[in-house]
Amino acid sequence: MRIDIITIFPEMFDGPFTASIVKRAINKQLVEIHIHNLRDYALDKHKRIDDYAFSGGAGMVMMIEPIDRCIQVLKGERAYDEVIYLSPDGQQLNQSISNRLSLFNNIIMLCGHYKGIDERIREHLITLEISIGDYVLSGGELAAAVLTDSIVRLIPGVLSDETSALSDSFQDGLVSPPVYTRPKNYKGWEVPDILLCGDDQKISAWKLQQAIERTKQRRPELLKDIEKKSKE
Ligand code: ADE
Repeated sequence: MRIDIITIFPEMFDGPFTASIVKRAINKQLVEIHIHNLRDYALDKHKRIDDYAFSGGAGMVMMIEPIDRCIQVLKGERAYDEVIYLSPDGQQLNQSISNRLSLFNNIIMLCGHYKGIDERIREHLITLEISIGDYVLSGGELAAAVLTDSIVRLIPGVLSDETSALSDSFQDGLVSPPVYTRPKNYKGWEVPDILLCGDDQKISAWKLQQAIERTKQRRPELLKDIEKKSKE
């Protein structure tokens, strides 16, 4: 997979992809992540990428031309499956969106700033708008890093134990059951006996029951989604 990220702050991506699973995926050549500085596509020598909004109002708007030029250069080199704009008013990210995106070959992510991007870019160039939650970030960069991480870990071959992505929270619509490691007893805080009984079937049943219980307590709306889907 190839991910192209368009940003006015390329340095914000110095950190998130240089450690852990995304780094491993890059090293294994399972993903290429290319960061593009939008200012390199500006029309003037001042590298201007924003302008005042027509009709006034507070805040600058990101201009069409630099964004269109950058996207056209990329599209001239390969076909893209999605051109994603990270925005607080986009569709809220969830596991099934990340699952779907992880099957693609080429994705563009555009990071917005200021009051947003000229609406015509959204109308004509963007194919998917994603929000990572109902709060406003200073720009789309952190959201693009979150989205990238959630996709890359799902690419086949990235995780050493393939099943570990399948047992993540949300993959089956439930949150994960609790996990424990040694010591068995710490200051009198005990690991549940069932996990040490050696009966795989009993342990799996316990884990499922814990996952359901936790989902009921913490994220009851997820159970409603499962019910809804099972009736469809
Ligand atoms: N840009 C600013 N806030 C954002 C959010 N919550 N999700 C995605 N992109 C954003």
